Parts: sequence; C-alpha cells; structure tokens
Amino acid sequence: MVFDWSRFYEEQGGRTVRPTFDRALEALGDRPARAIDLGCGDGVETRQLAKHGWEVLAVDADPGVEQRVVAGLADEEAARVTVRRSTFEALRQLPPAELVYAGFALPFCDPEHFPYLWADIRDALVPGGVFAGELFGPHDEWFGRPHMNFHDRAGVESMLAGMEVLELVEDDRRGMSFEGPKHWHVFHIVARA
Ligand SMILES: C[S@@+](CC[C@H](N)C(=O)[O-])C[C@H]1O[C@@H](n2cnc3c(N)ncnc32)[C@H](O)[C@@H]1O
Repeated sequence: MVFDWSRFYEEQGGRTVRPTFDRALEALGDRPARAIDLGCGDGVETRQLAKHGWEVLAVDADPGVEQRVVAGLADEEAARVTVRRSTFEALRQLPPAELVYAGFALPFCDPEHFPYLWADIRDALVPGGVFAGELFGPHDEWFGRPHMNFHDRAGVESMLAGMEVLELVEDDRRGMSFEGPKHWHVFHIVARA
C-alpha cells in the first residue's frame, strides 16, 4: 500500500456515512441483509449496518482494523460483523451480498489485480443487489501513483454494463484531501445488479 492511513482515520474522526452509502440503502429499502464493506477504514458504514441488523463482512488491509471497526458496538451488534484483515489483492472470492460498499477504496487496488476484484464484486452481488462506491479518473492528481487504478468515464460505464445505474456522478475539481489540497477526479457510483 502506498499511503499511511492513520492520518486519514484521524482526520475523518466523527464523520457521518457517505452519500453513496445512503443512496444504496435507500435503493435497497434498508431491509437488513448481507453486506460487504471493502476498504472499510474507520468502519463508520460497517457499524451503521450492524446497528441496523445487517450481517457485514468488513475488509481492510490496515493493521488495527479488527479493533477499530467494532469499537463502540454492543456485543450483539459486533457479533454481526466479520472483519477480514486482507489486501484486495489477496482476497479470493467474496460471499453473496445484497450490498457491496467500497467508499474511496477500490482505486487503491493494484491495477493488475483490479479486474479480478471487480469480477468478484459483480459475482458477489445477488440479483437486485447494489454496489456503491468510488472510482478515480485520469485527471485525478494521484494518477500514475504506483499500485493504484484509474478509469475514464467510458471505462467506468463499461464496468457497469448489465447493471442498472442508479447514480453516476463525476467530480473533476480541486478539493481537500488528508494530504492537503488536491485535484479530485472521482466517479461516485450506485448501481444495481
Ligand atoms: C480512503 S480510505 C477509505 C475508508 C472508508 N471506506 C471511507 O470511506 O472513509 C481507503 C481504505 O482502503 C484500505 N486499503 C487501501 N488499499 C488497500 C488494499 N490494497 N487492500 C485492502 N485495503 C486497502 C486502507 O487501509 C483504507 O482503510
């Protein structure tokens, strides 16, 4: 991995769930089911799901993920969360899920492996299941960093072929990152299998 995520978690402390996540739950009708949170980070979305009765597989490579994600959950809520500390590159197959959420995480998968990860995500989604998350485009300031993947709009659209696109919002503008100001080129995606 090319980033030290501890500063990111510190800066994100106290954040609320991300808009694509909310949109996905709206689309699913918020009936508790099975979710996968890829690159769960600080675990905000995983905890929200567990509190609402979802069974969650939370995946992240960062050391300390096991403790961080379930911190503050009641025992019965924590029991609904399975944390897998793993890189995306080492993941083999994902279990079936009604929701696959990957907030600002997939771009950090090695480009050589990314097509396999995306295929695993598509396979994991049950019919009617929803994917929500972000991909980065070629105008992004981090374009070209090693072990990251980037996609132009046509590439994103072809990845979503065969899905019902509920939201595809493209941001191409300057903004803040945990490393300071940067140019962001981000596709915010919500799509139904
Ligand atoms: C930008 S953070 C996003 C965290 C959270 N989903 C959010 O929206 O705030 C990216 C997360 O992906 C994880 N990550 C980065 N590269 C990874 C990889 N190759 N395999 C597994 N996890 C990775 C990091 O540890 C980090 O927690």
